[in-house]
Amino acid sequence: MKMNYEILLQSANELFKTEPTQLSLLSNASAFIYENIPNLNWSGFYLFDGHQLTLGPFQGKVACNVIAPGKGVCGTALITKKVQVVDDVNAIDNHIACDGNSQSEVVIPIIHNHEVYGVLDVDAPIIARFDQALVSFLREYVAILSKYIDFSRKLI
Ligand code: SME
Repeated sequence: MKMNYEILLQSANELFKTEPTQLSLLSNASAFIYENIPNLNWSGFYLFDGHQLTLGPFQGKVACNVIAPGKGVCGTALITKKVQVVDDVNAIDNHIACDGNSQSEVVIPIIHNHEVYGVLDVDAPIIARFDQALVSFLREYVAILSKYIDFSRKLI
């Protein structure tokens, strides 16, 4: 992992420590990615309400507000519980285009006790934005964030 990613992870941990509520935690967690990682056009959370994913705190353009299990890249991450990396969203059928500028996408599921709490979805306006180093960073970012999520209380 690149050095600047290590520093960002430390900064994120310091930021998360200070968050007074779960809403402020996820709000700043989406903004932190958007502000610090270049060449992105969307960063945010979809939260699982037991039936579908619903839009949570985010940065970027207005986005679809609900996503059914299995639908799109986010819905695929929900049912597979696996990180999804799409180098070219135009090349796959199962992609929901919220912002026409999106060219590549990564979705990291947030899992607790084998259940999906939600997903972190990050979009880029360029093809293949999410290289291995950036995906590793985002995985670690979600792992650190998960230390501060109160999984006993649903935000939605
Ligand atoms: N592209 C996503 C939908 C959410 S937007 O990118 C914000 C998907 O296919 O699930």
